[in-house]
Amino acid sequence: MIEFRGNVEGEEAAAGVALGVTLGRGFDETGRGLMERLPWLERHLDDAEFTAKVGQVVVVPGGEGAPFRQIAFIGLGADPDVEQVRRAAGSAAKALDKMPTIATTLHEFPIEGAAEAVGLGFVLGCYGFHRLKSEPKPSAIRSVVLIGGDEAAVQGARRGATIAGGVTFARDLVNTPAIDKSPVMLAAIATGMAGEAGMRVRVLDEGEIEAEGLGGLRGVSLGAARPPRLVELWYEPADPKAFLAVVGKGIVFDSGGLSIKTADSMETMKTDMSGAAAVFGAMQVIAALGLPIKVLGIAPLTENMSGGAALRPGDVLKARNGKTIEVLNTDAEGRLVLADGLSLAAEQKPDLIVDLATLTGACMVALGDKIAGLFGADQPAALVQAAADAAGERVWRMPMPDDYRKNIDSDVADMKNTGPRYGGAINAALLLKEFVGEVPWVHLDIAGPARATEAEHYVAKGATGYGVRTIVQLATNMAE
Ligand code: BES
Ligand code: MN
Ligand code: ZN
Repeated sequence: MIEFRGNVEGEEAAAGVALGVTLGRGFDETGRGLMERLPWLERHLDDAEFTAKVGQVVVVPGGEGAPFRQIAFIGLGADPDVEQVRRAAGSAAKALDKMPTIATTLHEFPIEGAAEAVGLGFVLGCYGFHRLKSEPKPSAIRSVVLIGGDEAAVQGARRGATIAGGVTFARDLVNTPAIDKSPVMLAAIATGMAGEAGMRVRVLDEGEIEAEGLGGLRGVSLGAARPPRLVELWYEPADPKAFLAVVGKGIVFDSGGLSIKTADSMETMKTDMSGAAAVFGAMQVIAALGLPIKVLGIAPLTENMSGGAALRPGDVLKARNGKTIEVLNTDAEGRLVLADGLSLAAEQKPDLIVDLATLTGACMVALGDKIAGLFGADQPAALVQAAADAAGERVWRMPMPDDYRKNIDSDVADMKNTGPRYGGAINAALLLKEFVGEVPWVHLDIAGPARATEAEHYVAKGATGYGVRTIVQLATNMAE
């Protein structure tokens, strides 16, 4: 855990310093002071062609007589927004990762939420998944000193760090190999987290899943040796201002089932529980912040395997709300487990349901791997869009035209689980819509942004923990 504090008068023990610089070498007071005191810095920046464009990072040794061992100059571009501050903090964390203590002035940037952005960016920028390395090389950063930071700045940074803690929790779960995260194990981890956070938890085992009519989840689980679970987390503060339900796809491994994937496309399929991980991470944060909103988190957990009892193309499943689905492709399994998760959420009549799912490759074809598809009616879509924008998670609204519903008409059941290849993300969203009844609902297809192929700013290669920040921001907004 990284500690954030204001600086003690006269203390210049910090080993590294991170300075945000705007285009044209616009320094803040601390930066100007250092540039005057250490005139050779100017030459270093010239040699490195440092213009302070967005994302540019130059680290210069402080040298003899300097108050800092390393000075990191972080380019913020011409007119930085709060996301640039998050990214700058993340880049600084990566650039100064050998320094146990670093100081910064990034929180002083005159925009709303700068301190929180610094807390979030530093913690996420330090993130790595080291557990399975015999010689782990974690970041050395232990404390961050906010130069000139008052109590409000320190509190803001700590709030950012709390949110980052939920993102980190989600990243760890997603990065964990499938062999180490059976549905039973994940349910136990969620239960442990809920206990620490003071949340009520209900876990349905395979018998209860069948008895409760969760035919989609049961169907997908049939080919797996390890049994499924369904986790419900209840956060119920005293005087809630609203009621939010979040549902996350929890396929701990997606082999495709009998409609088996290629070896290549299976490589990353431990990531297919990112929606469930985002639900767990977000609820941990919401409880830690004590937000005055009731939240129900639902995670259907199973693996999609091809054992002898596996679901077959042509089988028909009946979901919790009574609707039947013809399974023509066992690799379109996410919508089958979400059918039950969404039905359960809708039964509780929340003000809003949001689901998060690594649902379709088609959504990645449409939007690439950094932007989630957002589906929903105008009003709820605008709410979630605003939360995502404020949180710095990228979404793009997708249509859900009624006349596409015939794409999933089935000859034998109420619907089929695949449609034509074109509009694949939309066809999936239209199936989900069958299970939310009259409750306002937004679907986030996070197949792309749930994982990163390269490290950059506060993102590490692998799991991103996408969705946690949007859900926390949404809960914050709904609680107001
Ligand atoms: N988990 C996959 C979607 C996915 C693909 C997520 C790539 C992340 C990266 C999902 O279960 C799936 O297999 N979807 C199929 C649906 C198709 C069979 C209708 C797909 O997108 O190909
Ligand atoms: Mn699949
Ligand atoms: Zn899947």
